[in-house]
Amino acid sequence: MSEDLLTYTNVQDYITSLVPPREAELLEMETFAEKHDFPIIGPACGYYCYQLARMISATSVFELGSGYGYSTAWFAKAIKENGGGIVHHTVWEEELSERARRHLVKLGSADLVQYHVSEAVEALKQTQGPFDIIFNDIDKQAYPASLPFIKEKLRSGGLLIIDNMLWHGRIFDKKDIAPTTIGVQEFTKQITNDPDWIVSLAPMRDGMIVAYKK
Ligand SMILES: C[S@@+](CC[C@H](N)C(=O)[O-])C[C@H]1O[C@@H](n2cnc3c(N)ncnc32)[C@H](O)[C@@H]1O
Repeated sequence: MSEDLLTYTNVQDYITSLVPPREAELLEMETFAEKHDFPIIGPACGYYCYQLARMISATSVFELGSGYGYSTAWFAKAIKENGGGIVHHTVWEEELSERARRHLVKLGSADLVQYHVSEAVEALKQTQGPFDIIFNDIDKQAYPASLPFIKEKLRSGGLLIIDNMLWHGRIFDKKDIAPTTIGVQEFTKQITNDPDWIVSLAPMRDGMIVAYKK
């Protein structure tokens, strides 16, 4: 039965194999993530973010929870090809912000990125919008409270992209009452029940919701 081959691992490996060759610097960032067990979005989701940003000709992106800039690098690549603009990189660890700056300089995207070393939702509140894309990858227990502020700062016709919406399968475990799991479940309920959004979940890697603000 060929259906036996339709496993999560086969699908993810296949999707990742379809991502075109990428810059050596991005590959280095992926190697670092593997070595240090750092949760980056990875090539398939990164390329998907890049594609979405190209599709809507985005020129302004606000990222919440940017780590050392891997997801930022994909958005910056799209913004550059869209003719320029800005990507806001936001993380509360100074060391990761500095690491991101080094990578983005090497990728030739330094002039497109603004760095905030801060709690991400606070930085969003203090930054003038509206944005074409808001990308959310902060601590999962903070997802539900972030939604009203995101909604306010995103333009109509803009995209909200949220990572980890399958939460490593933990969303299916009814006994899992960890704040992170509840955060992902609550956020999903909130956004799918709000008629102002058109929402779909792409089951790539750990699941990404893409929500279009009407
Ligand atoms: C999942 S990692 C980001 C990975 C990044 N988006 C990528 O794919 O390259 C989340 C990062 O954001 C930080 N973070 C989590 N919650 C945050 C918050 N509320 N404000 C600022 N930084 C936060 C974490 O400590 C970590 O460095």
